[in-house]
Amino acid sequence: MVMETKTLLFSTLPRLSYVLILVLFSLVAAAASGSLSFNFYAASCPTVEFIVVNTVRSASSSDPTIPGKLLRLVFHDCFVEGCDASVLLQGNGTEQSDPANKSLGGFAVINSAKRLLEIFCPETVSCADILALAARDAVAITGGPMIQIPTGRRDGRESLVANVRPNIVDTSFTMDDMIKIFSSKGLSLEDLVTLSGAHTIGAAHCSAFSDRFQEDSHGKLKLIDSFLDTSYARELMSMCPAGASPSITVNNDPETSSAFDNQYYRNLLAHKGLFQSDSVLLEDERTREQVKDFANDEGRFFESWRQSFLKLTSIGVKTGEDGEIRRFCSEING
Ligand code: HEM
Repeated sequence: MVMETKTLLFSTLPRLSYVLILVLFSLVAAAASGSLSFNFYAASCPTVEFIVVNTVRSASSSDPTIPGKLLRLVFHDCFVEGCDASVLLQGNGTEQSDPANKSLGGFAVINSAKRLLEIFCPETVSCADILALAARDAVAITGGPMIQIPTGRRDGRESLVANVRPNIVDTSFTMDDMIKIFSSKGLSLEDLVTLSGAHTIGAAHCSAFSDRFQEDSHGKLKLIDSFLDTSYARELMSMCPAGASPSITVNNDPETSSAFDNQYYRNLLAHKGLFQSDSVLLEDERTREQVKDFANDEGRFFESWRQSFLKLTSIGVKTGEDGEIRRFCSEING
């Protein structure tokens, strides 16, 4: 009798509603089990990805520095307390107070996507998801791979400046120092080489690399880091002369700074890595082959980027009942 009812039920249910029930069931299960999932917002906010990509696209078309800023922002968010938008919180003593975070940008783009989402889907989409999606879109908009990423991150309620230094990588770090921090986040040596490829877009302040060379009293270049190409160092010195304004920035990739491509690795081969932490990827034999591989084959870099970016944006995520869905990205709910 039960069998007959079941057979009748399934044969009469239109196929579409059956699929819909399955999708809804898996969404509810994902939310309850506290994991990220694809189409997390399919029922609660189906327009989320559309709203985020449009916001990023329009902001980037009026300000081409936006994609680089968004990509760096997600890195700094995810490495400190996981991808929980803690880097977006304003106030005394928050992560934003650390010197490494003073040069972060792109906050206004996240805030404006959030404002729109609060109109279409109030109190539903986390700032952590908006940031991860926006960084994903920044890569695609500049010519990199388009990646489907799972969502369901929740926003943290804490942001402490003291958590930044022990978790963020500095340009002066040795390969071993970098490996240590990356592996503490579940990222491999391959992920380190791949994610450093983010420096194929964006810009840096002179202070981030000016210790690699010096200008002598006759205005001549004195190389401090002998691994740096001399003519590139000379170019950098002319863009960042002693006493230059601290607000001057230089493109990370001197060749194709607004394109997400494999030029970063070609630059490394030519000893034109901007930071010491970039150059070291070619210097160290543990990573040299991968640098050469990516320099020769953009497809390999993109394939690896897909996997490493998914890992980066899944670090220490808060899901299920953890954290909250902030109403404003710059402050915790009251
Ligand atoms: C491996 C260690 C890394 C170090 C030491 C490092 C360091 C830096 C520094 C010092 C800057 C310049 C900041 C400024 O002066 O404004 C910068 C810029 C940037 N970084 Fe990294 N970074 C690393 C890894 C990453 C990763 C993993 C990503 C993303 C996946 C990333 C994305 C970016 C981007 C896109 C910019 C340009 C930002 C802009 O245009 O405003 N970096 N990085």
